[in-house]
Amino acid sequence: MNSNHVNDIYSRRAICYHFTHKLIFRGWDLSWRQTAAWLCPVETGDRVIDICAGQGHSAIEYIKVWRYLGADVTITGIDSNERMLDAGKRRVRRYGLENSVFLEKADAMNMKPGYVPKDMKAYQDDCFDAALCVFGAGGLENPKQAFCEMLRIIKPGGRIVIIDALLPTPGLHTTLKHVSFWNDFRLAMMKHLWGWENHNSLFVDIENSSCADAYGAHFYFETISKALCPEPIPVLKKAIAVYVGVKTKLGN
Ligand SMILES: C[S@@+](CC[C@H](N)C(=O)[O-])C[C@H]1O[C@@H](n2cnc3c(N)ncnc32)[C@H](O)[C@@H]1O
Repeated sequence: MNSNHVNDIYSRRAICYHFTHKLIFRGWDLSWRQTAAWLCPVETGDRVIDICAGQGHSAIEYIKVWRYLGADVTITGIDSNERMLDAGKRRVRRYGLENSVFLEKADAMNMKPGYVPKDMKAYQDDCFDAALCVFGAGGLENPKQAFCEMLRIIKPGGRIVIIDALLPTPGLHTTLKHVSFWNDFRLAMMKHLWGWENHNSLFVDIENSSCADAYGAHFYFETISKALCPEPIPVLKKAIAVYVGVKTKLGN
């Protein structure tokens, strides 16, 4: 879906985002946000970027998990929608995390210094230790372009964790059955609420992303693990795609 259209949707829906997300995921979103943090080991002093941070739900959960593990990190959460960011900033203040979570306006598909509009932030190459994107890829107009940008802004050896919902298709996972009417209905509902698209090529897009540094060295995401997990409530079948990779120099 076109980025302007997605932006309009979030401007309208920001007020009920928390409620609708909880309702549709029936509370399971919380454990996936925490899973993302567990899959991304960090150390005190690390700088992490949360792509499509929305109202900061995921960033706040990452901080809780990492603090529990003894790591004091800072998270830059980027999102292109001002209303989502405003609600996020209030949420971050409520949790007393203003010194750890910084929400900034940026376009996940274009964060290159010199190429972004005035009201958007840009980030240098190799400036973050890790990148996470939880429940964000589905609303991106061009996810592959965003994955290339994530690759550019994280340091070589930095980790990427991406988690999103996919609707099952036949053969994608043996325990998931394709229920056409139900899937069509849910796709329409998620599109309407969040501008969400079913990116079945998610893993392929991530693995085909690449970037080059100023010296012409090429980088890609080397897969550490990827999984398609069926949701626990069988009748409401939805698959959660989980990808973990690391920025690696081509030819290493
Ligand atoms: C479903 S929300 C996810 C929010 C958050 N990650 C969470 O866990 O709740 C998707 C967010 O992606 C943002 N978004 C969509 N396209 C974007 C883009 N090109 N750049 C940055 N953010 C974008 C939307 O504004 C929205 O806030």
